[in-house]
Amino acid sequence: MSSVRRVNLCYQNCSAPHSCTTTAFEQLENMKMKQLGKTGESISELCLGAMYFGSRLDRETSFELLDRYYDAGGRVIDTANVYATWVEGHEEPESESLLGEWITERGIRDEVTIATKVGAEYGNVPRSLEPKVIQEEVDRSRERLGIETIDLLYVHVDDPETPQVDVMRTLAEQVDVGNVRYIGASNMPAWRIARANCIAEERNWPRFEFVQPRFSYLIPERNPSFDAAVQLPMTDELVDYCVTADLTVLPYSPTLGGCYGRDDRSIPDTYVRSENRLKMALVEELADRHDVSGNTIVLAWMLERDHPTVPIVGCSTLKQLEMNLAASDVIFTDEECRRLNGIENYGFDKWAQRSA
Ligand SMILES: NC(=O)c1ccc[n+]([C@@H]2O[C@H](COP(=O)([O-])OP(=O)(O)OC[C@H]3O[C@@H](n4cnc5c(N)ncnc54)[C@H](OP(=O)(O)O)[C@@H]3O)[C@@H](O)[C@H]2O)c1
Repeated sequence: MSSVRRVNLCYQNCSAPHSCTTTAFEQLENMKMKQLGKTGESISELCLGAMYFGSRLDRETSFELLDRYYDAGGRVIDTANVYATWVEGHEEPESESLLGEWITERGIRDEVTIATKVGAEYGNVPRSLEPKVIQEEVDRSRERLGIETIDLLYVHVDDPETPQVDVMRTLAEQVDVGNVRYIGASNMPAWRIARANCIAEERNWPRFEFVQPRFSYLIPERNPSFDAAVQLPMTDELVDYCVTADLTVLPYSPTLGGCYGRDDRSIPDTYVRSENRLKMALVEELADRHDVSGNTIVLAWMLERDHPTVPIVGCSTLKQLEMNLAASDVIFTDEECRRLNGIENYGFDKWAQRSA
């Protein structure tokens, strides 16, 4: 059985972390850390996704989720310059601004790691990684977030039109002037990330230290077309590259909209495959055995991976957040791990064994 996470009710009666109770500090110790690439730094093992903060989720709900995540020891939050301009009535990016307000009101800038992204299209900003776009968008993100330095900056989506050497040079300049600390790549094929990192390493520029692919326990069909044209799933090659070159993996959409634990969310069509039926049955069995949601089981499986993996949890209620935080407390037996990993997995395990 997994242990039950103590619920700190601090978010209900305390809006400032400095006045949190000891329980908050005890819980802080509960959130384990994962290494961040080769930077020598670590981040909390669960990242909070802020995609709909300030748009679908109002300010009060967003602040409650942020406070609860903070009280549980969470210290890394994911946003983007584009979030969430596709939501009707929210054509201006609101997630970064809301996060900026929360950081300022709570006075915790130095305690949290803020990740944002550049490169996707919104308003008058094109889908592009041209130097001018990166420079202007980094400045706009810093302004909206109200911070001098973006801790983690992702390229949100690849740009085959802009030479990679120009992209990596521009990112290096942003790090050099102190606008950005570390860089990562989202929705980019493994070979392009590896190529960009070679370009950077040859010139002593910063390399991509972490990646953010669409990655869950279920594996989609080959060449899936996801709703947003930018989204690229995890691949065997990307797992292999991240393991070989020590890049941290931060999976997005890890629960596929919560489909592992709720009757009103079916598995997305592109994931309907025979292997996934077996996987779903196993997730349900383990959810019953550990007395948690199937979503918790999937997040716990990610945390169990040998390679540093930090799922980005998206939630719209405190109850969902509690279920997702509970992933840290699930302990699988060796047999359970073997079964979870035994159906179908990413990577080239047999190759690694052969060359060892
Ligand atoms: N790099 C990229 O291209 C990219 C793309 C997408 C997302 N992201 C990042 O990844 C984060 C998470 O992505 P996502 O929202 O797509 O993740 P997700 O895990 O696929 O979906 C999150 C949604 O699933 C439901 N859910 C989550 N936990 C649940 C639980 N325990 N029980 C029941 N339902 C649950 C909720 O749906 P309801 O709100 O409908 O109840 C929640 O809003 C985003 O916030 C963003 O930061 C990045």
